[in-house]
Parts: sequence; structure tokens; C-alpha cells
Amino acid sequence: MGLLSDGINEVIATTAFNAAPMGIICRNELIRMGIFAGSHTAQNIERDRWVVANIVHDPVLYVQTAFTDLNRDAFIEEKVNGTVMVRLAKAEAWAAFEAVIERRGTESMAIRLHLLKEDVLSPLVHPINRGFNSIIDATVHGTRYVISRGPELKKMINYHAGIVRKCGGKREIEALELLMKHIE
Ligand SMILES: Cc1cc2nc3c(=O)[nH]c(=O)nc-3n(C[C@H](O)[C@H](O)[C@H](O)COP(=O)(O)O)c2cc1C
Repeated sequence: MGLLSDGINEVIATTAFNAAPMGIICRNELIRMGIFAGSHTAQNIERDRWVVANIVHDPVLYVQTAFTDLNRDAFIEEKVNGTVMVRLAKAEAWAAFEAVIERRGTESMAIRLHLLKEDVLSPLVHPINRGFNSIIDATVHGTRYVISRGPELKKMINYHAGIVRKCGGKREIEALELLMKHIE
């Protein structure tokens, strides 16, 4: 399994010059993704059959990539097995995968991943911060809330916003303000 660990790894996936937070599921030695069919990530995987999992700890980057596009200079090209793939310039580590589409539904796609190459660039340690974790949770709910406007989602976002305010550092607070602007 390499860099990723058992369970769901909330990484920032790069496909072509596109980045979005995605869950990569590692269970029973198999690596998979489940992707909403309308996303750029799904379209790019369908065309190019690769994805790079970027490991980063910048909460602002999670919010930005969930809701907007990054400039080209946020990406770096890497040649993997003869194919030019793209990772985030800010990645602390990255893992490149071949992507095989297992199932296509009208709303989602199931993808099987095969590890091709991985690299650790800046092995920093990150003390656990509940504010960071809550930014990830609130952003997941936020990406659904902008579609459905469900009041239960808003409740969960508000719950996580409270934890971010209590436990987060400056970067988490900045990420929260950005998230709130996007979901208004
Ligand atoms: C932490 C996190 C994990 C996410 N995991 C997934 C996922 O596994 N599959 C998916 O389709 N969307 C997932 N999303 C939502 C996408 O990031 C979101 O829909 C994004 O706008 C897609 O961008 P794209 O169109 O550039 O691919 C996740 C969001 C967050 C914040």
C-alpha cells in the first residue's frame, strides 16, 4: 500500500492540471476511489487513466481545491513510467497510480488504483489538531451543502466550525473563512 494507510485517506488528487480533495480507500490490500461522475477528476481519469494522491497539511489548500481551480504554477510535472503526470508543488509526499474504471454508474464511478511510483519530499511531522481535522470534515459537508442546501449538513458544518475556532491555528481560521464564503 506504500504511503497510504489502511482505511480512507483524504488526499488532494491531481489529474491533469486539476486538483480536488478525494478519499482513497485502502482495504484488504486493494486501493480504490469512488468518484462523483460529474467532477473534473472523473472526466480526467476517464481520459488519462492516472491519478496522483498528494499528501499535504495545508487546510486552505483543501478548501481552495474543493471549490475552485488552482493556477498552473501550483502544479509540477513528474514522468512516471513514461507518462507525464502532475502533482502539487506543495505536496509533502505523493503517490502516482494507474486508474482502472471498475464500474460506471449514472452518478458515480468506482475506480481501482495500482501504485506506480511514490516519493516523500518533506517528511514533516504534524501534531494532531482537531481544528485541521474539522476543516476536512466541514469541507466534505460543504461540497454537498452547495448542491443540496440540506439543513442537516449546515448543522454539521456549524458544529465543525466551532471546533476550528476553538482548536485551529491561523491557517485553519483562514480556511474556515474561505469555506464559509464558498457555501454562503
Ligand atoms: C476531504 C474531502 C474528500 C472528498 N472525497 C471525495 C470522493 O472520494 N469522491 C468524490 O467524488 N468527491 C469527493 N469530495 C468532493 C470533491 O472534492 C468536490 O466535489 C470537488 O469539487 C470536485 O472537484 P473537481 O470537479 O475538480 O474534480 C471530497 C471533498 C473533501 C473536502
